Amino acid sequence: MSPPAYRASRNPGVCAARPLICKRGAPHPARPSRRHANEGSVVTSIDLPSLYLEHPDRNLALELVRATEAAAIRAWPYIGKGDKLAADGAAVDAMRLLLGTVNFDGVVVIGEGEKDKAPMLFNGEHVGNGRGPACDIAVDPIDGTSLTAAGRPNAISVMAVSDRGSMLDASSVFYMDKIVTGAEGIGVVDIRKPIGENIRALAKAKGKDVSEMKIAVLDRPRHAQLIDEIRASGAGTRLLLDGDVAGGINAARYETRTDMCVGIGGSPEGIVTACAIKALGGFIQGILRPGNDDERQRGIDAGLKMDHVYEANDLVSSDNTFFVATGVTDGGLVNGVRRKGPIIRTESIVLRSHSGTIRRIVADHQADKWL
Ligand code: FBP
Repeated sequence: MSPPAYRASRNPGVCAARPLICKRGAPHPARPSRRHANEGSVVTSIDLPSLYLEHPDRNLALELVRATEAAAIRAWPYIGKGDKLAADGAAVDAMRLLLGTVNFDGVVVIGEGEKDKAPMLFNGEHVGNGRGPACDIAVDPIDGTSLTAAGRPNAISVMAVSDRGSMLDASSVFYMDKIVTGAEGIGVVDIRKPIGENIRALAKAKGKDVSEMKIAVLDRPRHAQLIDEIRASGAGTRLLLDGDVAGGINAARYETRTDMCVGIGGSPEGIVTACAIKALGGFIQGILRPGNDDERQRGIDAGLKMDHVYEANDLVSSDNTFFVATGVTDGGLVNGVRRKGPIIRTESIVLRSHSGTIRRIVADHQADKWL
């Protein structure tokens, strides 16, 4: 397969002329102030948190969730049928179709699929109806294609969006070493340190005994030593068959039994996870891990830094990130698609960095309109 199409130029850290939401305190140039919007009415502001008053913007993710729902629904007939490309293809097509109806001007920075020749939304592809905020978008129509094909838990359909120019285009290097924790890990954990040291430091910050710590890691031969070291520290592992986006998010959420997610997974998944982590207020670092010299050189040619620790703000520089995920199969993050008589039920999680709100959306879809 030909190498991914890189975006001609990237400008991390610089927002487009029409950012999703202005920085806190700065009025949005294209939008009337609240006072104007309510002119003539007697609405007072006392009931709303100040952020709503400063940025009465729409939550784009609430529209984008329709695309992950569609992808999950269309992948549903393929669950357990042993054909991961067919499942992924159905999800990609549904996601692309629904994205076309959303009011935004999106460019796919992270399209998933190049790694294993799966169908994909292409890097550089324009999505959305072109009317609305200029955004970068990272898509993973199914994170867990093999899980879906096998009928195993934890497959999700995922998408992340941020201001145009703010996502790192890491697509030329397929793998990234990552470490993800909740907010307690900030200033405490560092990917350059031995895993045992990080686990002990995080346990202390969380007020837990090391023996209570649970570390998620993809169950791969490349992680054999890492897994040994985690267990030698006294912590336990949560071995993931696939799906380190959900693993990372669970590590950052406060009510889960996962404390940290570590190890080498996809770089697209790293960027998607970073968008979610910014919304959750957690901690993430990543180091690109090219598989050979050619890939390393492709990464360097694309402006990526090897042996470099990418912090959350390097992975996605904007503070306006949106993340949506819909369950394909049941998992710790969200339930999978269910058929209940005439309806198909989906469950999604929607994160928005600006407000920090975590929403769960359960939707009942009319089955006869979908299948
Ligand atoms: P896909 O389902 O999109 O192929 O990704 C599944 C996944 O487990 C990711 O969550 C993870 O980042 C990556 O694959 C790990 O790659 P590999 O399976 O090659 O170790």
